[in-house]
Amino acid sequence: MNVAELPGMDRLLPALEGLAPAYLVGGAVRDLLLGADSVDLDVALEGDALAAAWELAERLGGLATTHERFGTATVRADDLVVDLAGTRRERYSAPGALPDVEPAPLLDDLARRDFTVNAMAVGLTGADLGVLHDPHGGNDDLKAGRVRVLHPRSFVDDPTRLLRAVRYETRFGFRMDPETERLAREAVGAGALGTVSGPRVRDELLDLLGETDAPSALARARELGIDRGLHPALDADPELAAAGALGAAETGADRRLAALAALVSRAPDELEPWLDTLALGRGDRMRVAAAARQGPSLVRALRADPPPSAVHALLRCEPAETLAVALAHGAPAAPIHRFLADLRDVHLEITGDDLVAEGVPESPAIGHALDETLRMKLDGRVSGREDELRTALQIARGHVE
Ligand code: CTP
Repeated sequence: MNVAELPGMDRLLPALEGLAPAYLVGGAVRDLLLGADSVDLDVALEGDALAAAWELAERLGGLATTHERFGTATVRADDLVVDLAGTRRERYSAPGALPDVEPAPLLDDLARRDFTVNAMAVGLTGADLGVLHDPHGGNDDLKAGRVRVLHPRSFVDDPTRLLRAVRYETRFGFRMDPETERLAREAVGAGALGTVSGPRVRDELLDLLGETDAPSALARARELGIDRGLHPALDADPELAAAGALGAAETGADRRLAALAALVSRAPDELEPWLDTLALGRGDRMRVAAAARQGPSLVRALRADPPPSAVHALLRCEPAETLAVALAHGAPAAPIHRFLADLRDVHLEITGDDLVAEGVPESPAIGHALDETLRMKLDGRVSGREDELRTALQIARGHVE
């Protein structure tokens, strides 16, 4: 295979000379065989990846970031980014847990992987340059559009692969072979998904929700029972998720978080504890939880055709994901669009200082007067600085007296 033509290889290949045998691995090989012009440079070395990373960084005039615990490293030199790992074998001490890892040759490293299409390597060094290593028939499966596990325990060892299988089916228009699908259903039925940590589920679930055709992936996940396997109240409703993603596009929300919130919105009481186990970042968690709870309740309020000031009050503290979920649940689009295009940027031209300068004593009455004046401005009952000041003064004085 012509790996030398790939972007970045003109610098990487000479820099790898004399180091341990190195290979392009995993999704990069799959994508290359599928005709991609450029791929992530995921490199596996039969040797000490950390030492190689330092050496490579030196040779390329770049920087190495190492993750000692995992024996992996990233080397960056200008726009060249190379991820390095030592080839290794894995043993799963408990289903769903992270595996114990020890250095091993390339063939062991390929044998520990999820699917045949991800278990190929291309040599990057010496006479092995460009040689495809495909011990599990990955290339044939790629041509046939097949997602196939390497061994019967694969889904039990690592149930996140259930989500990955569905993601690859959708992204590439592939299908699990009958035996792999049988094993998938068996693993789901045996409760395999209950053995995986929340953060690992989160990463794969968000990747799935980020796929262009995430609704198809959800439909398939639902058909296989993956949603209920993650939580009995989780329903991977493809239409709701699609509406959430559409709502995200209209509101500037994060598509993945909006889709997740849409799914949680069906049963927030039951699903919030599950959401917590995913350990999203604090901000993301709050956005998803707020959207899941507030989104549906906004529908009725917005259907009542509230005045602009009320729309502003309803929406101004909500993250964009709430608006996306509201749209997904059938909220009228017009007030939401108006809020985004116009209302949310409406501010008074005056401040509290202007009221103080007019002799209003500092007190909560000033805040109240400004809020009230803003409401009137939003509803078109006040316009211009003079008008704002006069109105706010009247309200503030009336309040003080
Ligand atoms: N892998 C695996 N089991 C997992 C996760 C990853 O065997 N649960 C292996 C696969 O060989 C995969 C590689 O690790 O190709 C890298 O994983 P990842 O970066 O998640 O996926 P990519 O294959 O690079 O592709 P994509 O991100 O496009 O899915």
